[in-house]
Amino acid sequence: MPEKRLLLRNLHVPGIAGIETYERTGGYRSLRRAVLELGPDAVLQEVMTSNLRGRGGAGFPTGRKWSFLPKDGRPRYLVCNGDESEPGTCKDQEIIYRLPHLLLEGVLTSAYAIGAEQAFIYLRGEFKEGYRILEQAIAEARAGHYLGDDVLGSGRRLEVSLYLGAGAYICGEETALLESLEGRRGLPRLKPPFPATAGLYGMPTVVNNVETLAAVVPIVEMGGAAYAQLGTEGSAGTKIFSVSGHVRRPGNFEVELGKVTLGELLNDLAGGPPEGRKFKAVIPGGSSVPYLTPDKFDTPLDYESLKAAGTMLGSGGVIVLDDSVSIVDASLRLMEFYRHESCGKCTPCREGTMWLQQALERLHGGEGRRGDLLTIQGLCEHIDGQTFCPLGDAAIAALGSALRIFRDEFDQSIPGGRDRRVEEVAR
Ligand SMILES: Cc1cc2nc3c(=O)[nH]c(=O)nc-3n(C[C@H](O)[C@H](O)[C@H](O)COP(=O)(O)O)c2cc1C
Ligand code: SF4
Repeated sequence: MPEKRLLLRNLHVPGIAGIETYERTGGYRSLRRAVLELGPDAVLQEVMTSNLRGRGGAGFPTGRKWSFLPKDGRPRYLVCNGDESEPGTCKDQEIIYRLPHLLLEGVLTSAYAIGAEQAFIYLRGEFKEGYRILEQAIAEARAGHYLGDDVLGSGRRLEVSLYLGAGAYICGEETALLESLEGRRGLPRLKPPFPATAGLYGMPTVVNNVETLAAVVPIVEMGGAAYAQLGTEGSAGTKIFSVSGHVRRPGNFEVELGKVTLGELLNDLAGGPPEGRKFKAVIPGGSSVPYLTPDKFDTPLDYESLKAAGTMLGSGGVIVLDDSVSIVDASLRLMEFYRHESCGKCTPCREGTMWLQQALERLHGGEGRRGDLLTIQGLCEHIDGQTFCPLGDAAIAALGSALRIFRDEFDQSIPGGRDRRVEEVAR
């Protein structure tokens, strides 16, 4: 099962992080074409036609997002979301560290298309080396007149500023990111207003993921219609999946959406389970989506098929567990993460993740009480859809599905036997 590499096609070319090699392999042709041939509206049209959907998690159509910006003469901003804190996800890191000019070209081309003079790249706090690499790329691009006061002699001004976060998962949520970028504590904002009308410094703002913006480069190069031919009708193009955990060849794999099944990704590209082991379950979209078990491994990797299978494509971080893993232990590990990363702004998430962690710690320590599973189930139901931002839903997505799929394993962790279900209590 081959990969279909558009973004990662030059990943292994020596020196590709430098501008000379990048240009020699066709780099900055898309920006050149955008600025000198197409003009902003035509670039926006190409992105619309491509049917590109945002790769940050929600899969919102990129061209549509760009078209929401009001044409009211106010300055507008492009913000590239490079926070990438979703567990099991390391695709943006690969682009930032190894293909910095691809990202920069995507950011500059997109900023040009939406009429922004100023773009920001927000990096997660741990990407200090990525910051340095991008700083170098920006200096090289400036010397090549791809950014600055007169881009490629067109008279257009394009500037890019880098910002390093302080290591908080919530700062990947677009409005918390904007708060952080403005210098405040990263807490989510109430929506509406959406960033398109009141974003950074109250101005119209587009927030897009690293992979989304990098995909604009091949879209402008090949044309939106050709890009839309890749993948499926609802899930166009290619997507990078980060496979981690119990496989023989973990890593980033770029495939055409809908053309490869989860099983093919895990077995053919990632090498299958470790010697003597079997796959037990997979979280296919970062840690914030429901589990899939091997009976669903024939699901094609696209937005619609994964939804129909009861989960989501999310960030494309595929976390693989083999049969050596206790699902209770895995659930505890994930809940520790969400409890730690909850920003504390709203009660169901702040308190709920703490209580969930406490109940899971008891189960993990062999001290589960009768009623603990009821508590867990009830908490999941009270968090679901009730929190200020989607982190609450993210915290319980995998746990809720684990409780449904692996109920026996949870029951067995309670000394004295099976716990009752919420439905039984209600009866
Ligand atoms: C808790 C939380 C964390 C998120 N983390 C990220 C992230 O690290 N990177 C990212 O691009 N989007 C992240 N998102 C999604 C962003 O809010 C936003 O939808 C995305 O950056 C939009 O880009 P796209 O349209 O290109 O997908 C996160 C959302 C939530 C609720
Ligand atoms: S759900 Fe509430 S407490 Fe949790 S991160 Fe979002 S705003 Fe903060």
